[in-house]
Amino acid sequence: MTDLTPEPERPADSAVRLDQGHVHGSGGIPERFQDPGLPPHVHRAADLDEKAAKRAERSVAGLFALSMLGTVLFLVAYFMVDVDTQTFVPLIGTMSLSNLLLGLGMALSLLGIGLGAVQWAKTLMPDHESVEERHPLRSADVDREGFVQTMTDGAETSQLTRRPIIKATMGGALGLFSLPLLVQLAGSLGPLPRNDLSVTFWNGEKQADGSWVAKKRRLHLDPEDRPIKASDVTIGSVFHVLPEGLQSELHGAAKLNEITKSTVLLMRLNPDDFQDTDKGRKARDWGYQGIVAYSKVCTHVGCPVGLYEQTTHHLLCPCHQSTFDVTNDCEVIFGPAGRPLPQLKINVDSEGYLIAEQPFQEPVGPSFWERES
Ligand code: FES
Repeated sequence: MTDLTPEPERPADSAVRLDQGHVHGSGGIPERFQDPGLPPHVHRAADLDEKAAKRAERSVAGLFALSMLGTVLFLVAYFMVDVDTQTFVPLIGTMSLSNLLLGLGMALSLLGIGLGAVQWAKTLMPDHESVEERHPLRSADVDREGFVQTMTDGAETSQLTRRPIIKATMGGALGLFSLPLLVQLAGSLGPLPRNDLSVTFWNGEKQADGSWVAKKRRLHLDPEDRPIKASDVTIGSVFHVLPEGLQSELHGAAKLNEITKSTVLLMRLNPDDFQDTDKGRKARDWGYQGIVAYSKVCTHVGCPVGLYEQTTHHLLCPCHQSTFDVTNDCEVIFGPAGRPLPQLKINVDSEGYLIAEQPFQEPVGPSFWERES
């Protein structure tokens, strides 16, 4: 049994002793530190020499100007550099020129503002050292008025009013810096999906006038880009497939766009594993001998559904844990997704290769307000 002996109370007037800057209560427990005071103040060059102050002013302005250049570079890269243009960067390799310039522009923009502010504070802002005693969270009215007065004085003593070039360049840097954020918000949301998610490469062949002519495309393994036979898909296995021709016929952004929409997960279940419901029977009938194909694009906000649990036949989206039941036509059994994954109806051709019998019968990916139209 534990013996709980209460600690003896320390007398309110316990003696304290000073020892190497520490103040000790009874029992040698440190209670507080003796205030060591401030070291001797060292004046900065800019405080004593107007030429040094001018040099500091120029360096601050230069850094803010560097930030402005960075922002301009970002905007030029965003609007004028083709996203498909590649460039070689030593130690990194081949990469998108647009991404490189966007990154450099944003880095210079932020770095210029940050370094300019630090340099300004270290060289030109007030260098007074002050001590403020702790006080209740809400300051007394007189202190609050004092704060306002201090800020007003601070604006004066930080030389903001006396040094218009800093005021102008800092205003320009901060003002321009907001532009990329607005551009990102307004420009990078992209167009409304309209019909784009209803039509994928599984629809067949796209004509010059934008219409599609039906064509039964084989299912090609990704990334090998070769057809797959039904006999290659064993029970419990799962494959990542794309429509035949997508990887060889398309290039650049169009290829990436179609890969994103047309990507499909191929699984084989025992035909008896499908539920005896309308949905379960439809899922089995749209497959081939237990092999079923479903869009890999999550119907929540479009993440790739990547995890297949063999034992439960559940597909899991790693983004927000939406879970789809493959045995019941990928019904949502958990998570925020609002509808099942669209199924691709498949069959085999005369050589035993898996083909898409028809394109998706509903839009792939996230739901959106104009989906029904
Ligand atoms: S994107 Fe799949 S659950 Fe959110």
